[in-house]
Amino acid sequence: MINKGLFVTFEGIDGCGKTTQMKLLAEYLTNHGYEVVITREPGAKGLGEKIRDILLHYDGEVSSKAESFLFLADRAQHIDKLVNPSVKEGKIVLCDRHTDSTIAYQGYGRGVDIEQLNVLNSLAVGNRVPDLTFVFDIDVETSMSRVGSEMDRMEASGKEFFNKVRQGYLDIAASEPERVKVIDAKRSVSEISREVVQIVSEMM
Ligand code: TYD
Repeated sequence: MINKGLFVTFEGIDGCGKTTQMKLLAEYLTNHGYEVVITREPGAKGLGEKIRDILLHYDGEVSSKAESFLFLADRAQHIDKLVNPSVKEGKIVLCDRHTDSTIAYQGYGRGVDIEQLNVLNSLAVGNRVPDLTFVFDIDVETSMSRVGSEMDRMEASGKEFFNKVRQGYLDIAASEPERVKVIDAKRSVSEISREVVQIVSEMM
């Protein structure tokens, strides 16, 4: 068993099933005696919750750059106040979305300059890079049918947008194969969970 902290992130387009998988992994790790912290971006707690509310529910115009800075502000707070302290205490931190979401959604999806987003991501996180990242890959039609008709501001961005986001994730995974594992998310929940547990177990 490890007693060193670990930071694992869960990524993919809306409706890919990552949150379910994160919870199943948390259950598995807790049952095996690990101390696990489950968290998310945007909006883990406190200030982040306020930022999340703007990002998902503000109904006025939001420029793509302003949107990027809001996600980044949330991230900076989250890393400083929750992720770093927890990892330093030796906990396993499982985070629903992180830096790759900004590259995929604001970079590939909205067209914000990716080089500049990489710099801003680094500013927000310092040297805290995920030890492991899962990208749950699924086609946009299936993911949209899972999301349904009650959509938040981001989910209402359309099919073309989500195709670009999906490609963004696949490009990130291709460029960082050590850190980023692509999981075929069209399979059953239990099949996917077995693969996730296996990858994490091998890593530990
Ligand atoms: P959320 O309800 O948490 O969606 P999900 O359950 O799919 O994770 O909403 C978060 C939304 O914010 C989601 O549409 C992805 C988007 N997002 C970005 O566009 N950029 C980011 O950096 C992050 C963290 C999230």
